[in-house]
Amino acid sequence: MSTTPRVLTAASTVGTWLEHPEGGAAIRELLEQAGVGADALAPVANLPLQELVTLSQGRLSQDVVDALVRRVGGGPADADESVWRERITPGRFDGRTVVVTGAASGIGRATAHRIAAEGGSVVAADITEPGLETLASESDTGRITTVTGDITRDDDIDRIVTAAGGRIDGLANVAGIVDDFSPAHETSDEMWRRVFAINVDGVFRLTRAVLPAMLERRAGSIVNVASEAALRGNAAGIAYTAAKHAVVGITKNTAFMYGPHGIRVNAVAPGGVATGIAHGGAPDSAWGNERTRDFLRMIPPIATAQHLAASITFLLSDDGVNVSGAILPSDGGWSVQ
Ligand SMILES: NC(=O)c1ccc[n+]([C@@H]2O[C@H](COP(=O)([O-])OP(=O)(O)OC[C@H]3O[C@@H](n4cnc5c(N)ncnc54)[C@H](O)[C@@H]3O)[C@@H](O)[C@H]2O)c1
Repeated sequence: MSTTPRVLTAASTVGTWLEHPEGGAAIRELLEQAGVGADALAPVANLPLQELVTLSQGRLSQDVVDALVRRVGGGPADADESVWRERITPGRFDGRTVVVTGAASGIGRATAHRIAAEGGSVVAADITEPGLETLASESDTGRITTVTGDITRDDDIDRIVTAAGGRIDGLANVAGIVDDFSPAHETSDEMWRRVFAINVDGVFRLTRAVLPAMLERRAGSIVNVASEAALRGNAAGIAYTAAKHAVVGITKNTAFMYGPHGIRVNAVAPGGVATGIAHGGAPDSAWGNERTRDFLRMIPPIATAQHLAASITFLLSDDGVNVSGAILPSDGGWSVQ
């Protein structure tokens, strides 16, 4: 059963806006002008209206969002109590050093921010320098050290480990790319190699690189970011699907091997998340798109990167104390469909 908030805000979800008598009417009017039905917003029903400004790459402007809020007599962002908010647990990562890959964008960036806000020191690694600079400038904690590097290169991995300064309590293997949705007969060697190099070899190599520091202290927590494509065959092309299934294998084997040494290893399997994740460099396969389209239409609405950071940091932190070898779907329930 839905609840109608007393006040709509830019932070209210698209679903909340649509259910609100005045908000729904205002949004539907806007969609009508654009010649689009309200169904088009179903995948983003759980996202704050505000997020559509970035997600639509300017097609929905900030001015339009502000005008919508004014039109319904809306309030400031914190006025809608029904909105999910990241709740910082002060001190949860006090004294801990956590390496986060893919930290320049999306899920990695949200994870790095959350760990730093909860007292941890973060080694934020990514191949994209500008995104890392933004990350560091956004955080007022002073606890984010950035390393620009490619996780497929051993020398860059060495620099990431060195930046941690000897102590590594956690590793979040977040960096990744998606494929072009191609099935086996269309998949190029280049696509296969590229997806595996980043999504599988990168995870393995970072894991291998941080284990000595964790073994020395007989403590550590590793969280790998898998995907819904690690749980099923109809979420991506063959390269991404196989790569994310490999991440599950890395997670389970590492959890088994190092459990007696105080090291926990888990994976989070996100469903759709509102990020700018990059494809492997080729246009999407028409075959793959057509075959998966009807299934992907039925999945739960996409999540925010902060939703995923909540799942990842739970497993990384001591709150995950008794959890190892788990593959946690963080997908709004997609995995039970
Ligand atoms: N967005 C989704 O819907 C979704 C769904 C399921 C799983 N995932 C997984 O979540 C993870 C994060 O994705 P995201 O959605 O935040 O995407 P994103 O593109 O916003 O972030 C990924 C980051 O990884 C970095 N990266 C790529 N190759 C790298 C390399 N060789 N070395 C270092 N950094 C590199 C990119 O520069 C980028 O900043 C990925 O592993 C992805 O497969 C995402």
